[in-house]
This record gives sequence, structure tokens and C-alpha cells, in this order.
Amino acid sequence: MPVTLEEVLVLPHRPGELLVGNPRVARWAVADAAFVDLLAALRAGDGPELRAGFAGVTFLAVDASAPPFADGLLGDPTGLDRDATLEDAAPLDLDAAIALAVRLKLAVEDEAAYAESLGPRAHPLDRARHGNVHQRVGEYVARELGIRDLDGWWADQKFTPDRREPKDGPYRWVQWPFMAERFAPGSLTGQRVLDFGCGPGLFARLFARAGAHVVATDTNEDHLATAARLAAEDGVGDRIETVPLGLPVEEGLRALGDTRFDLIFLSDVMMFYFHPYGGAVDLDPALLLRELAARLAPGGRIAVLEPDGTFWQQPRLGAPDRPLLVLGEYRHRRLGVTPTLEELSRAMEPAGLAIATVRQLTPGPGAPADRAAGFAAEFPLWWYFELVAT
Ligand SMILES: C[S@@+](CC[C@H](N)C(=O)[O-])C[C@H]1O[C@@H](n2cnc3c(N)ncnc32)[C@H](O)[C@@H]1O
Repeated sequence: MPVTLEEVLVLPHRPGELLVGNPRVARWAVADAAFVDLLAALRAGDGPELRAGFAGVTFLAVDASAPPFADGLLGDPTGLDRDATLEDAAPLDLDAAIALAVRLKLAVEDEAAYAESLGPRAHPLDRARHGNVHQRVGEYVARELGIRDLDGWWADQKFTPDRREPKDGPYRWVQWPFMAERFAPGSLTGQRVLDFGCGPGLFARLFARAGAHVVATDTNEDHLATAARLAAEDGVGDRIETVPLGLPVEEGLRALGDTRFDLIFLSDVMMFYFHPYGGAVDLDPALLLRELAARLAPGGRIAVLEPDGTFWQQPRLGAPDRPLLVLGEYRHRRLGVTPTLEELSRAMEPAGLAIATVRQLTPGPGAPADRAAGFAAEFPLWWYFELVAT
């Protein structure tokens, strides 16, 4: 006895066509009015009266879901194929229409089980759960693209093939202008910087050009090798030391000795300590911040750049230049990417840290006039914090 979910949205599409979707699980249909009437009736369940009421009625509906990461990591997470149409759709009888509604999670047999299934996975292959965003990205890359090297795929999302600079997209016209301005040449003269989770070293080289001596560390040795090569090619090899990071993190950080840093920087990495993939090692954000805070020089700061915890990966609707988003969750992270402000604060407090600066990043010059830029102009894609010892 399927019941239509309360989160189902109905929007106008083309003449005679409606978009019907469950933005929480990124599933959509293009449908006719009869299918929408059926969903409205199914709110009360699939009983004999419903069957009598729809006797002989046929329905037009097609799956209009697109994989949310098909346009890349920073593509529109709505999961809606905006070009879908009913033009070639075959009529469905009542049972086929209900089956489609169930397949697209517009209707479910058991609402409590559905609510439970939205949580993060205990491990990457836990198919009973929808999973957090990191787990869903991992699944998409492994299953749809057949790529085993998630870190390599991620690097392709952000960088030009030589890994030297951000490729065209929000990393280039949102993240990069902010960072280039904040860490302008000369702004870190003589400072010691730790780039924690440095990837191929884009920001490590920025800090070196700003005058810092940088220790760049990462769990991925391929990224570290790229970081070292690019630093040498850019003539800042003598300012960047690459150090492999072992886990658990408290042991890995010991390899850095007792150096104290003026700036400890984490970009798109602390989030994994709040919303892990489900890997073998427990990642604890409070422990991480305590370990990092213990390595700050007097007056030092920890800078954290991450997907904006409120807006990133929320489904985007409306016109490209006047976007709306469907905020599906804030406190109870099921699809979670980054922590809420309160979760961040609770992880910082035992480390004796406080937030000194908050910035929310919107597009700089060079952003195209498309849906992604329109969204980023209204709803910041990354937030940036500077944490200081209290
Ligand atoms: C999204 S990338 C960001 C890289 C770089 N900070 C940037 O913004 O260009 C995340 C990085 O964190 C590293 N990483 C993964 N798990 C980690 C962990 N538990 N601790 C530290 N770094 C980790 C990955 O190898 C990867 O280089």
C-alpha cells in the first residue's frame, strides 16, 4: 500500500507536462495531470476506493532523473533532467504508474523505513542507506564511471590535467579569487604554514609565493609527489616540504616533529572528519582540532575552507539568475557534507579555539552567466573560517 511522500514537489514544465520530484533523493518524473492526481490520492494510501476512482484511467509519466554528479562534483545536485519530456511517452496503467512512483521514491510502502534509509552508510557498500554526499560521490564514481581512484577523479574535477591550476568552474571563479586575494604575495613573509590535506599543492604554492615556508602533508602520496614536482617547476621547491600523513592523525602529525606554525590551513578536508566515507580509521574532528591547535605558534591561526554547510549540495530550482534552493536538512545531517556551525563550535571548544573570521565565498570575475554561477552568486558555495586560540 504505497503512500505519496510529503516532500514530493510538483512544478510546471511544458504545456500539459508537470515536473514531479523528490529533491531529497534527487529523483524526478515528467508527468501529466492524471499522474499528479494519482499521487495526491495516494497520500491516503492505495486502497480499493483509489482503484475504483482511477478505473480505466491511463497516465503519462517518464523518469526525469539525472545522476546528480553527471556534470561533475560541483554540478547541480538537483538530479533533474530539465530536457525530459512526455513527447514519446507510452501510457501507463494504474499499477505501472504506482510502480514508477515507488521506483522514483515519490511514494513508498513504509515511510518510517524510508526516513531511516536516508541516513549515512555504515560502510561504502551499505546499500540499505542513501548515504552522505561523500559516500554518494564515491558510489557514483565507482559504479557509474567505473573509476577506482576517487582521489584522482576528484583532482580531475578541480584541476587542469597538469594539476597546476583550477580548471574552469566554481573552483576557479569562486575559491581561487578569494584565496589569491587573501594570501597575496608578501602577506605571509617569513611565516611557517602547514597545509594539512594539501592535495596537489595549489594552496601550498600560493602560500610559498606569499613568502611562507610551507609544510604540505597529505594521506595520498600521488598528490604529494605532484605537489613537490609543481613546487620545483614553479621555483618554490625550497619553500615547500612535502611530508606523508599517516593515520590515525595524532600519529601522522608526530612525523612533523615539534614545529609550531603561524598558519595551519585545511581546504576541503576537515569535512571528512565530520562526515567520513566510512573508511577503516575513525576520524574525530575534536581530536583533529586539538592536535592542530597544539602545533600553533603564539598568535597563530587555523584557516578552514570548506563547502558552505548550509547551501552546498542543496537542490537548485528556479531561473538560473534567480535561483531557489530546497533546503532539505540543516541540523540532522543525512546527506551531510560539512558540519553545522554548532558542530564546528563543539569540536573547537575543547581545543581552546574560537572563530575570529568568517567569509562566505561568492563568484569573482570571470564567472559565466549560467545556472551554476547564478546559484553561487546567491548561495555561497564555500565558507572560510579563521580560528584562533582563546
Ligand atoms: C578534496 S581534497 C583537497 C585538497 C586540497 N586541500 C585542495 O583544496 O586543493 C582532500 C584531500 O584530503 C586528503 N585526505 C583524505 N583523507 C584525509 C585525512 N583523513 N586526513 C588528511 N587528509 C586527508 C586527500 O588525499 C585529498 O588530497
